[in-house]
Amino acid sequence: MARHRRKIIYLLGFMGSGKSTVGALLAREVGWPFIDLDATIEAGQGAAIREIFERVGEPFFREVERAALAEVSRTEPAIIALGGGTWTLSGNQELIRNAGGTTIWLDCSLEELLRRCTGINNRPMFRDTESFAALLNQRLPHYQLADYRVATQGCAPQEVVEKILNLRIF
Ligand code: S3P
Repeated sequence: MARHRRKIIYLLGFMGSGKSTVGALLAREVGWPFIDLDATIEAGQGAAIREIFERVGEPFFREVERAALAEVSRTEPAIIALGGGTWTLSGNQELIRNAGGTTIWLDCSLEELLRRCTGINNRPMFRDTESFAALLNQRLPHYQLADYRVATQGCAPQEVVEKILNLRIF
């Protein structure tokens, strides 16, 4: 029996996959509120993600991220852009599935992700090419568990939005 779907779309994928940009455009297109999980965390902590990592470390960030995820998942309808690591933590996957929304993985090649992230220093999980590639490989099996995969390679944000609208999940 198909489970009941709530009107929540979670965009997931690696750093630089376009979750925030596409999410904001998609939300405007369908007239739903847009929630950026990283921005929610920053507002709640009164600090940038990089500062949170520097001051209190990743484990604390992940706790705050989990709490923020639970909080934003109460909003319906909503387009929610997750952080690159959010979906890869098992407790979070359970939380998202229990929330009853739909998950969409914005898939993109390592080369393009690197091009988009190199030179931008607000991502504490982006240290160097080798660790970036290793982290992507480690996370791919998790991303593959999303309800839908949208290939974003070479696509402008609006084209990605069109692809999502073509999934006919709205
Ligand atoms: C992270 C990705 C970031 C942010 C934090 C951790 C990760 O979000 O949540 O720096 O673990 O990949 P973006 O994917 O929006 O950059």
